[in-house]
Amino acid sequence: MESAEQSVTKTFGILTAGGDCPGLNAAIRGVCRAAYSRYHMNILGISNGYRGLIEGDVRPLSPEDFSGILTRGGTILGTSREKPFKSSEIGEDKVKAIKENYNKLKLDGLVVLGGNGTNTTGYLLSQEGLNILGMPKTIDNDIEGTDRSFGFHSAMAICTDAIDRLHSIAASHNRVMVIETMGHKAGWLALFSGIAGGGDVIIIPEIPYDIKAISRHLKGRAKTGKSFSIVVVAEGALSLEEARMDKKDRKKLWAESSAPSAAYRIARQIEAETGMETRATVLGHVQRGGIPSASDRILATRFGTAAADMLARGEYGKMVARTGSGTGAVDLSVPAGKIKKVPKDDPLLDTAAAVGTCLGV
Ligand code: F6P
Repeated sequence: MESAEQSVTKTFGILTAGGDCPGLNAAIRGVCRAAYSRYHMNILGISNGYRGLIEGDVRPLSPEDFSGILTRGGTILGTSREKPFKSSEIGEDKVKAIKENYNKLKLDGLVVLGGNGTNTTGYLLSQEGLNILGMPKTIDNDIEGTDRSFGFHSAMAICTDAIDRLHSIAASHNRVMVIETMGHKAGWLALFSGIAGGGDVIIIPEIPYDIKAISRHLKGRAKTGKSFSIVVVAEGALSLEEARMDKKDRKKLWAESSAPSAAYRIARQIEAETGMETRATVLGHVQRGGIPSASDRILATRFGTAAADMLARGEYGKMVARTGSGTGAVDLSVPAGKIKKVPKDDPLLDTAAAVGTCLGV
């Protein structure tokens, strides 16, 4: 461990970007406490993600700011989905403003806490010469280069609790309950909470579903006396036909269907195919709110303190990561522009199938 005098970083900025999630404050606390107490670094908190750096909305953080926030949901820094590189001309202005403010604030480095978009922007900024250190957060667990992101475990617990509650409704009413989790491109949350909640069917974006196969499964259950079923669906679920369409045609089809989301579309299809009474529940932003789970608090704190050590060593252009049981780091080019999807051979898919869960095909 470097001494405070040896620390390469004297002053750093910190921001949170993208959708909020449980564990952000725990991670902020982890970085700031270790950076402050071990390395005596100056810390500047940047408001509302990259937007704060564009607009110069920055304030110094002192120990009172990062005390008492371990269990608090959301982010004390605020967040936004600002993507400075997104639109060409305005993008250039935004990137220019970021670089100017970075220099004006005399930052030795910038810590960015976020998902795919945030770490991709971090990578692009590091290509522009800024010292960036990424930290992986998202309830979707879809960041390439890390086994887990903080936020995922908390969201999984919320989804599992919701599935448990909807289970008793399904059983009492002899209904099919279709429960939608977040996850546009990756089905980790639906898969994990679906298994934890004993889902009879789990539909993820990586495996386009066949409504006939799902209906056969539900009817089969009914024949064995199981008069209710739980169907867990990721918001990005696609039928086999939808997966074959281009995005424009798919959007048109969905707009015409007037179903607000995947769960509603699938609930309708199940009812039409099986005649079983079916209800849809979209868990929505409840999944991202509130206190972090104990596991996320630990992960976020580990990531945070590891980030402080990396700042002290001047180890930039990287994202803190978890591989196996250890905390390490990967080059920011690893998560940049990518989405970590559930692979076709993920052992958990086989686990689900082995306990009789239908995966939509
Ligand atoms: O942060 C990712 C995510 O959780 C996605 O799964 C979801 O589609 C999206 O956020 C919703 O974002 P917003 O809060 O901007 O509606």
